[in-house]
Amino acid sequence: MFFLNKIIIIIIPFLPKFVARFFSKKYVAGTTINQALDKIQKLNLKNESATIDILGEHTKKTKEANEITSNYIKIIEKIHTNNLDCNLSIKPSHIGLDISYELALNNFKQILESAKKYDNFIRIDMESSKNTDISIKLYNELKKISSNIGIVFQAYLHRTENDINNIDPRSNIRLCKGIYKESSEISFQNYDEINNNYLHLLELAFKKNIYVGIATHDERLIYKSKEIIKKMKVDNSLFEFQYLYGVPMKKINKKLKNEHFKIRSYVPFGKDWYDYSIRRIKENPQIASYVIKNIFSKGM
Ligand code: FDA
Repeated sequence: MFFLNKIIIIIIPFLPKFVARFFSKKYVAGTTINQALDKIQKLNLKNESATIDILGEHTKKTKEANEITSNYIKIIEKIHTNNLDCNLSIKPSHIGLDISYELALNNFKQILESAKKYDNFIRIDMESSKNTDISIKLYNELKKISSNIGIVFQAYLHRTENDINNIDPRSNIRLCKGIYKESSEISFQNYDEINNNYLHLLELAFKKNIYVGIATHDERLIYKSKEIIKKMKVDNSLFEFQYLYGVPMKKINKKLKNEHFKIRSYVPFGKDWYDYSIRRIKENPQIASYVIKNIFSKGM
């Protein structure tokens, strides 16, 4: 199975889009806002919070970046009208960072104003290391306007300890391992090193009283995070567990819910589903058996 996994990972980007769509649709909550909100309502009924993401990144035209901004504002209004438990996750390059810092800042400001009005919250997703400094700069600027904003830190980057040390202690961060390909000069490459750093950073954040979204599907890491929470007697109001929509977490989430921990699902949707889906398929360690099962059960 190991070699089959490797082969599938290599060939998936070369397959026609409709084939990739077939295998990746469980990771994406649809292509329209209403489809995504419908899925979020179902999650809320299962006692899970959500964070919604419009798929896409590296927008090249100002008009498009502004349209995406308007859509995020519409979503905040719809979340309010439908009384959903859902905040927003936004990639800076999606709303204009590749065009200019000012455009991204201005678009974030508009979304943040709306989030403030409806008592919602937006999180700046973290992209590759090329954007780390500028994303933190955006965050610090926006934090001056409102506390309804958070950011993401990646445990694989060497710099993250320093970043957490320098951030406002009244921050709300998401801590994840990190998904982008980074060089060994700036990032840990091996599983144990990344996990050890993750746990070190989690302790550091808790020491500073920072709110942490513990974003991982790694059972060992979740278990060790709970040990830290217990050892440091961290109050439940200072953290939540987060997972990506479609990743099989039923058993782990059930256990976390029984332990009265807050859970949030990251729910992506939209027409630009391709790049995100390929990233998720590549991360699935059971990709070969998943593909085979789908071929036989759905008769592809
Ligand atoms: P790891 O990759 O070691 O996986 C651990 C286990 O989880 C696997 O063995 C498998 O069982 C299961 N698993 C993981 N992915 C799976 C999949 N696709 N399908 C099936 N099973 C799977 N990254 C980033 O750089 N910037 C960001 O802003 C974010 N945001 C973000 C939000 C949330 C809520 C989450 C959970 C993750 C992110 N990430 C992210 C992605 C993150 O950096 C990381 O790439 C993935 O979470 C995979 O890492 P794990 O912690 O799951 O560990």
